[in-house]
Amino acid sequence: MNKYFFIFFLTIFLASCTNSNEEDAFSNNDCNTDDVTYLSAVRQIVDTKCVSCHSSGTTNGIILEDYDNLVIYIENVFFQINSDLMPPSSSIDLTECEINQMESWYENEMPL
Ligand code: HEC
Repeated sequence: MNKYFFIFFLTIFLASCTNSNEEDAFSNNDCNTDDVTYLSAVRQIVDTKCVSCHSSGTTNGIILEDYDNLVIYIENVFFQINSDLMPPSSSIDLTECEINQMESWYENEMPL
């Protein structure tokens, strides 16, 4: 009997380990793509992944630091993300969840 308990706990232990990886957790059902707004999710994604190179203080001409500017560039933003051109370093690529949230937001006409 003890052997089965051990296997039972081992299984739970291993399952909790794999879930501690952020990306794995997101690719399960934890990704909320309902009612995504700029302020609830999109701003944070763009702030973390893009704005370090795309604020008014940078020189490449693409400003993504506020809602109005993001909306201006949005088609190109999706093109860059989906072609894996931006962000330029794969170490800060958007997670699958972040891409799904951005797309859901776009399809809902980009609510603020
Ligand atoms: C490490 C700096 C850096 C980060 C982070 C970054 N970019 Fe860029 N991005 C650039 C530079 C430099 C250019 C201009 C030169 C080029 O096109 O490669 C650019 C160009 C662009 C362009 C215009 C491309 C064109 O040629 O039409 C878009 C749109 C863009 N970035 C979107 C994004 C988005 C969206 C993110 C976040 C997901 C992001 N970038 C993250 C540096 C960055």
